[in-house]
Amino acid sequence: MTALAIEHVSKSYALNGVQRPVLNDISFDVAPNEIVSIVGASGCGKSTLLRLIVGLDEDYRGSIIQGGVSDTKAAKVGMVFQDHRLYPWLTVGANVDLAFDASNLRKPERLARVHHYLQLVGLSDYEKAYPKQLSGGMAQRAAIARALAQEPDILLMDEPFGALDSILRMRLQDELLSIWEKNRVSIVIVTHDVEEALYLGNRVIVMEPDPGRIRDVFEIELARPRDRADPRLAALKQRCLATLVGREALS
Ligand SMILES: Nc1ncnc2c1ncn2[C@@H]1O[C@H](COP(=O)(O)OP(=O)(O)OP(=O)(O)O)[C@@H](O)[C@H]1O
Ligand SMILES: [Mg+2]
Repeated sequence: MTALAIEHVSKSYALNGVQRPVLNDISFDVAPNEIVSIVGASGCGKSTLLRLIVGLDEDYRGSIIQGGVSDTKAAKVGMVFQDHRLYPWLTVGANVDLAFDASNLRKPERLARVHHYLQLVGLSDYEKAYPKQLSGGMAQRAAIARALAQEPDILLMDEPFGALDSILRMRLQDELLSIWEKNRVSIVIVTHDVEEALYLGNRVIVMEPDPGRIRDVFEIELARPRDRADPRLAALKQRCLATLVGREALS
């Protein structure tokens, strides 16, 4: 049983009238309750891949199958975009509340959940604020709250912690893990931070550009909770970095 099966996915974009390959024959599975991290150079197609998975772009070759059913509606997919994409005309609370539009929850329950998720990301005091009144990192946290509030089966995250300071980043990584443990959600997280990829992932997929393809896959078989100072993580980081920048560059 897989939560998500990506099979031979290729994608090209037209640039100045010429088709340019962006993703080349990407295949991987995500098991239920697995966390897959994706790292790779800027421009190697990570955001494009997530957009295909979430169904925002259907112009690709290959197949993307969720929950064993070839229908994008079959599994509830939540997405945290690289830019927060909050609606500027809605308060932070109302942005999170949007997550319940497809549910039949009643107003008091919706409000309680909005409070819960805002508290989780440390934004309790900003429920009535508008996105423009938030810093970049705060807006990103509000977007994370909105995605978590949907209680998705598959959560796609595109550099969700990129705009956060390192303390907050670590705290939210741990919050994400505790939510993951409780809700048995499958997560695909794109990050530039190799340590983050290794700390969170059951597997780390390393991509390379021109065209975007999978260079290597690392299985991270360390028990949880993981110790950030574990020397095995440090060794994996070296291997992962060597793959990322090319073995020749580090030798
Ligand atoms: N709508 C589009 N039209 C044409 N080309 C696009 C479009 N979106 C992305 N691209 C191209 O596809 C390639 C991959 O872009 P993508 O945003 O997926 O990269 P990325 O791996 O997410 O990079 P980053 O780490 O910088 O976010 C880039 O070369 C980009 O120029
Ligand atoms: Mg991107």
